[in-house]
Amino acid sequence: MAIVIAIDGPAGAGKSTIARRVAGRLGFTYIDSGAMYRAVALWALREKLDPADAHRMEQLALAAAITLEGDGVVLNGEDVSDAIRAPEVSRAASQVATIAGVRRALVEKQRVIGAARNVVMEGRDIGSVVFPQADVKIFLDAESGERARRRAAEVNGDHDAIARQMRERDERDRERAESPLTQAPDAVYLDSTGLSVEEVEEAILKLVRARITNGKEFR
Ligand code: DC
Repeated sequence: MAIVIAIDGPAGAGKSTIARRVAGRLGFTYIDSGAMYRAVALWALREKLDPADAHRMEQLALAAAITLEGDGVVLNGEDVSDAIRAPEVSRAASQVATIAGVRRALVEKQRVIGAARNVVMEGRDIGSVVFPQADVKIFLDAESGERARRRAAEVNGDHDAIARQMRERDERDRERAESPLTQAPDAVYLDSTGLSVEEVEEAILKLVRARITNGKEFR
């Protein structure tokens, strides 16, 4: 049985940076589940489809061939790693992520990946829905001001506009009916405000070492 480390939390909490580093340290595969919602959203925008059209979006999610290779994201044979980071894709991704059929299709793909190898998977519902039996669950958070600052620095964009978009997206992610962003009861809450990347990484590795015993081996 493969090991799953689930890292959930709002946008800008540091999930990608931390999940990638923790995976590197453990020799696990890093999986960015949000990239799948982004890939479906990108496909919809390119086809000029409405991201709120539940039936069409479910069809796209079922038909999409999405592979995550290292930090690269391939959609139907095309490298879309950069294209899925555009602000309009972020917005559409949070819309398609509200659709139950889309979530069913993508959760299925995520479970297949996680069953095959040891993973550090980040998202919004990994510990609560995708892998309720995950070996380690982290809910990574940070104060909203700090999350907006980090995201603005990362994409080198206008701070106020980014803060506004992030608030809008977080609200939709937290308030949707289907698998909203929520802390699983058995997840460890970690507030990264004021902590360095190294400090957060060490805190998580400590939890992993404490939790994973019993014949489950990793280097
Ligand atoms: O993590 P991200 O910002 O790349 O995610 C893009 C969108 O997809 C985000 O608005 C929330 C949604 N998402 C989700 O609903 N469930 C996940 N497991 C991952 C992302």
